[in-house]
Amino acid sequence: MDAERLARHLAAVVGPTHVLADAGLRAPYETDFTGRYTGRARLVVRPADTAQVVEVLRICREAEAPVLPQGGNTGLVGGSVPTAAGDQVVLSLRRLDGAGPIDPDARRITVGAGLTLSALQGRLRPRGWEFGVDLASRDSATLGGMIATNAGGERVLRYGTTRANVAGLEAVLADGTVLDRLAGLPKDNTGYDLTGLLVGSEGTLAVLTAARLRLVPRPGHRVAALLAVDSLAAATALVTRLRRIDSLELAEFFTAEGLALVLEHTGLPAPFRAAHPVYLLVECAARHDPADELAEALEGADVRDAAVALDAVDRHRLAAYRERHTEALNAAGTPLKLDVTLPLAELPGFAAALPGLLDGRARPYLFGHLAEGNVHVNLLGTAPEDEDAVSLAVLRRVADAGGSISAEHGIGRAKARYLHLGRSAAEIAAMRAVKTALDPAWLLSPGTLLADRG
Ligand code: MLT
Ligand code: ZN
Repeated sequence: MDAERLARHLAAVVGPTHVLADAGLRAPYETDFTGRYTGRARLVVRPADTAQVVEVLRICREAEAPVLPQGGNTGLVGGSVPTAAGDQVVLSLRRLDGAGPIDPDARRITVGAGLTLSALQGRLRPRGWEFGVDLASRDSATLGGMIATNAGGERVLRYGTTRANVAGLEAVLADGTVLDRLAGLPKDNTGYDLTGLLVGSEGTLAVLTAARLRLVPRPGHRVAALLAVDSLAAATALVTRLRRIDSLELAEFFTAEGLALVLEHTGLPAPFRAAHPVYLLVECAARHDPADELAEALEGADVRDAAVALDAVDRHRLAAYRERHTEALNAAGTPLKLDVTLPLAELPGFAAALPGLLDGRARPYLFGHLAEGNVHVNLLGTAPEDEDAVSLAVLRRVADAGGSISAEHGIGRAKARYLHLGRSAAEIAAMRAVKTALDPAWLLSPGTLLADRG
């Protein structure tokens, strides 16, 4: 089917204004926000509901057109933008942005895949509820995208990754079959966990259209502290000590190099008079005021300087030093992004080995979610011809140390060729078999997660 005919068929379903064929209109859907991944879509189609998604998939299947589901396009591994081939239809889920009522008894809410995280937070917080996952790209990231990539973010230490916060899903398979697991019962032991399978499947198994989310009561009191320390080893020792506090919700680190970039990009004032090698941002939240228990836990700790935030304005001020790393890095260049987990004890050794592994081929900026040993290794200045060798050197070191080559960003297109470093041949074969069973023609998100059929 040629592009014009395909566009006509799709327009009959979603309306002509929601089929974008013009290059200018397609552009925001074709490049990710780091600028690293860019491609060309055959068309962009924007259905309004599940029934339209079913029809769109039916038409694309008939046209043998590969389909790339897309949420807020905030992914960091190239899984949300089309390839340069120009054959993929980008299926944007952003119009599915509805939300049902909060169910306080079940502690659940049902939302459309296109609802942004910040819109969900705006709905929940004034009513005393919270969704366990939070991340810096909250204003654009959609729940569907977060579920498809099993997003992690800043509060995994307390609430787990997105997977732990999803009770049920509605999804459409490549052949148009709707899987409705939206009941999201607390106990339901009836065979394969299809919801669990689809969380983190990166758009390769089905198009997610709605989700039943778990909610937690919003803790009434919060306190944050930015702590300056000597080294990454000192920061990990501090996190280990602070983990004894039940109210600890967030433990994020960054380094002097990253902070300098953030200050330059944002114009924010430095948090302390002097610069320090490593910074740890912690936040505690509870029904009671957690300030005393945080102060107690910090007594006698090896901290060079500290700033404490007792109200929301100050908390956001401190959080900005950590959260604005991604945009500061984007402004400084097109970072090569690696996102790894290491056992905490291995982390200082990894950081010390990094200059040797990079061998002058990149400037590293390390930051991330310290409690989980999740380091965002952002590299600037890498020559294109060195990128593969540099990535392999770092990821091999991580795998050898018992870590994961993708902590929270997923595999996407960027890491598909390194999947074997984290998964055995038998596991990859099992994943391929699942993919083929649910999407026999491999029409959904081709090239993402699994580079090929093997
Ligand atoms: C973050 O935690 O800010 C992002 O996941 C990291 C990144 O931009 O590399
Ligand atoms: Zn992160």
